[in-house]
Amino acid sequence: MLGNFTYHNPCAVHFGPDALDCLAPELANYGKNVVLIYGGGSIKKSGLYDKIVAIIESSGKTLTEIPGVMSNPTVEKLREGVEIARNANADLLLAVGGGSVIDYSKAVSISVHCDDDPWEKYYKRFEDVDDDLQIVPVGNVLTMSGTGSEMNGGSVITSHSEKLKIGHTFGWRVIPKFSIVNPEYTFTVPDYQVRAGMFDAFNHITEQYFSGSDDSTSDYIAEGLMRSLVHSSRIVMKNPTDYEARSNVSWICTWALNTFIGCGKPQDWEIHMIGQAIGGVTNATHGMTLSAVTLPYYRMVMPYGLTKFVRFAENVWDVDPTGKTDAQIAEEGMQRFEAWMDEMGAVKHVSELGLTPQMFDDVIAGTFLLDGGYKKLTPDDVRQILVESE
Ligand code: NZQ
Ligand code: ZN
Repeated sequence: MLGNFTYHNPCAVHFGPDALDCLAPELANYGKNVVLIYGGGSIKKSGLYDKIVAIIESSGKTLTEIPGVMSNPTVEKLREGVEIARNANADLLLAVGGGSVIDYSKAVSISVHCDDDPWEKYYKRFEDVDDDLQIVPVGNVLTMSGTGSEMNGGSVITSHSEKLKIGHTFGWRVIPKFSIVNPEYTFTVPDYQVRAGMFDAFNHITEQYFSGSDDSTSDYIAEGLMRSLVHSSRIVMKNPTDYEARSNVSWICTWALNTFIGCGKPQDWEIHMIGQAIGGVTNATHGMTLSAVTLPYYRMVMPYGLTKFVRFAENVWDVDPTGKTDAQIAEEGMQRFEAWMDEMGAVKHVSELGLTPQMFDDVIAGTFLLDGGYKKLTPDDVRQILVESE
């Protein structure tokens, strides 16, 4: 591991079927005013809302709510939530939901005591949180696995009017203080979202894996996580209520993006840049925006990082290298990866996401071009990837 790094993650994760028992002791660590933030109603349907409200009330807290956080949360909804949290003098933001609700809560947390417009400051100008800013702490109860938002500083916000979806990974002060992860809550997630979440997590791992050339422990950990995810995903697809497989998937998703496996490495993230740009134009499900461009992207960069693609083929997909060239081994790995994507029902064509060629210019304009991967893309490369994914 040749890079320098500081790994600092202050999130306490309470994991397992009894994890909600840890909510009351966690609430005791914060002030009186709790703002409960949730999505479009799945937590009311499942009964989780009633349980959490009962815990908040029996802890003697004052409850305010921000309901209706949509998938791919918008800038308008963010501004509305900041006002509610300000008026409530929020001491704790309790996010109950998936990545969208948790990302949104982090964005509110750094905006309540900030005079600037959060969209302009944190996303469009990409500024960091001021050192002296008071951040309202965030805790969460996770209901859907995929993004890793429960244990990281990432927050993605969308402006439909500007056709922009922008993610910002903030420092350790923005990471949730605690996270309650009961894999049983994920049993009711719609099948398409389950698959999208698992693909998202796999891609988080590959975004960190396909970069650099030094011998890095992070890459060995990444390979273990990928193998475990492929194994457990197959069980989950057959039997969505298999607790053992669901618990593995949940834990992998958390570790895929709590920044641990990126330690000491350059990182790629270009698939996420294109996927987010597609999301800004179409509002499509995040994980599927990634899968749609994954294969053309990796086939484009493969010659520049061939050694790592060979390693991926052998160590993740068990490709036998005997008598094959490196290019053949790497391509066989890609084919096995694609076969798993097919099993997963991962979207492979941007047209399935409602993206038409007339929209390509907007996607290209909204794609940040990064230089951490094996090849820095040009706008024409992005166009080629979109055309190949059509
Ligand atoms: O809104 P509700 O009614 O809760 O329904 C949600 C939503 O419709 C539903 N759902 C969640 N848990 C459920 C459930 N339905 C039934 N039972 C449950 N237990 O699932 C739908 C999708 O939820 P959402 O939170 O939107 O999905 P996800 O967790 O994939 O989050 C996506 C957002 O996270 C961002 C994405 O860009 C996107 O905006 N990301 C955040 C990252 C981070 N913080 O580091 C990294 C990721 O790369 C990603 O960009
Ligand atoms: Zn993602």
